[in-house]
Amino acid sequence: MAATKSKFDESLKIWMNGKIVEWKDATVHIAVHAMHYGSSVFEGIRAYKTPKGSAIVGLSQHIRRLFDSAKIYRMPVKYTREEIEKACVEVCQVNKMDEAYLRPLLYRGYSSLGVHPRECPIDIAVIPLRWGKYLGTEALEQGVDVCVSSWTRIAPNTLPALAKSGANYMNSQLINIDAQNLGFTEGIALNTEGYVSEGSGENIFVIRDGRVITPPLGSSVLPGITRAAIIHLCGELDIPIIEDHVPRELLYIADEVFFTGTAAEVTPIRSVDKVAVGIGKPGPITLSLQKALFEMIDGKREDKLKLLHYYKID
Ligand SMILES: Cc1ncc(COP(=O)(O)O)c(C=O)c1O
Repeated sequence: MAATKSKFDESLKIWMNGKIVEWKDATVHIAVHAMHYGSSVFEGIRAYKTPKGSAIVGLSQHIRRLFDSAKIYRMPVKYTREEIEKACVEVCQVNKMDEAYLRPLLYRGYSSLGVHPRECPIDIAVIPLRWGKYLGTEALEQGVDVCVSSWTRIAPNTLPALAKSGANYMNSQLINIDAQNLGFTEGIALNTEGYVSEGSGENIFVIRDGRVITPPLGSSVLPGITRAAIIHLCGELDIPIIEDHVPRELLYIADEVFFTGTAAEVTPIRSVDKVAVGIGKPGPITLSLQKALFEMIDGKREDKLKLLHYYKID
């Protein structure tokens, strides 16, 4: 179908506006509003194969954030949250996927190209992907090398960071492309005040003297579902945690730094701007939080946040 070789599994089926359709039929017109103005909001959700069966992690939390994003952008959704949650489960089941990366997407559709979306419909799809480790298979164990980006994170009162909108990822693309062009795995963006915000697609945590610090929501960060889980797990493990401004230089003198995200999970950062973080290897607090998160996903630790949504495949 595509001129270039795609990395998609094109045998998978997609949920589109209430119907399950073949991959090749899940297309949109070139004149849809979202194509021109970035008028979409979306989620990235993972389903894991666990010892207790397959489970979608943070399903209700992610769909709540999807609806929050839609509300911020004045996008009325013609389905309930429960219906979209069901659609996510259905996509896993119909494709017989015991693990998956799901991409629910809400977008302004086909009607006009005025900046004001007027009567453009709000279309919705749930796309399944087979995605492995986002930052590479070794990243979780060895850690990654990152840089502070020369691009600033989207500013408050420009593009709302609490919404996960397609448009925000133009900023993320600049951060990520430049970091990779410079030979780093990922870039960290500072906010307009010069404090650390987050990675192009991950939240960030910094540890010094046994205390964990993560930038507050007012630092132009996405309210990550994994971020919330890690803050909770710090409490369970009696690790002191605060949400506070993180000056750039704290990255260089930190004992440990790590990224969190649905795709990145808990990824240790071993250097920032070629300066080793701690001893240049994943540190003990990072590894204990990474372990605790995977234990929760695997059902070996009580799921106090009710993140796991188990489903069956016939
Ligand atoms: C910009 C950004 N920050 C943070 C995150 C992590 O969020 P979550 O843990 O909900 O995946 C993501 C991933 O979606 C992201 O794109």
